[in-house]
Amino acid sequence: MNDQDSVAWVRARLKQARKVFVLTGAGISAESGIPTFRGPEGYWKNYSPQQLASPEGFARDPKLVWEWYNHRRRVIAGCEPNAAHRAVAEIERRAGQFLLCTQNVDGLHQRAGSRCVVEIHGSIWRTRPAAGGGAPFEDRTIYDEDQLPVRAPDGALLRPDVVWFGEALPADAYARVDAFLTSGPVDVAFVIGTSAVFPYIVRWAAIPRHQGALVVEINPAPSLPENIAAVRFAAKAGDILPQLL
Ligand code: APR
Repeated sequence: MNDQDSVAWVRARLKQARKVFVLTGAGISAESGIPTFRGPEGYWKNYSPQQLASPEGFARDPKLVWEWYNHRRRVIAGCEPNAAHRAVAEIERRAGQFLLCTQNVDGLHQRAGSRCVVEIHGSIWRTRPAAGGGAPFEDRTIYDEDQLPVRAPDGALLRPDVVWFGEALPADAYARVDAFLTSGPVDVAFVIGTSAVFPYIVRWAAIPRHQGALVVEINPAPSLPENIAAVRFAAKAGDILPQLL
């Protein structure tokens, strides 16, 4: 089936869909100007992930890690949600039951109008004590270099409220996605802009497929196995999603 036939088919199924699930990764923010992680321009190319996004890396050099997150805050603050983010928010408005699970920490889905959002890897716009399990708080500051690493007034080291390599996913967020997927069959599921490197991402795409949902992947380099994604658009999210509305 060519893309136009696939677009017509997905549009028809989406129109009848009562329950819709959306999974996104860095690729949905690429057209907003935010680099993906594993692409040619990826964040990781100058540093190893362990140096920047791991408890060990932070313990070794909290200033370097904060410099990287502060740089990302500055980049993200200069970006706008794109047509793909807006289309996902429109799909939510039209669906009866809806959940968006994003691996992104940039907050662009919420700025585009998405409401039912699980940030499975946390948020770059939240900060929390690095030790002691203190509560996260919203923090939209873009710091000056000499303010890094960020510390509480009492001098305690703070960290971004994001999930690092080797850390557990937030249990409440994980449970919310599982509860949504297991509380009745999904009709249409979208997997957008992710290399799906983590097993839980593939699992959350496989559950709707086993329920009989239409699973649609949108990615110039499709990453899901064919037995999960019934429709795969090898295209940019911003090109395909608006056509599905
Ligand atoms: N539209 C759709 N997909 C795109 C676009 C686009 N315009 N541009 C790139 N992509 C795809 C790429 O082909 C790639 O498959 O987006 C995907 C981005 O993959 P990654 O960079 O691996 O990002 P992601 O899948 O979100 O990584 C998951 O890994 O590094 C950790 O915590 C980090 O949340 C991140 C997680």
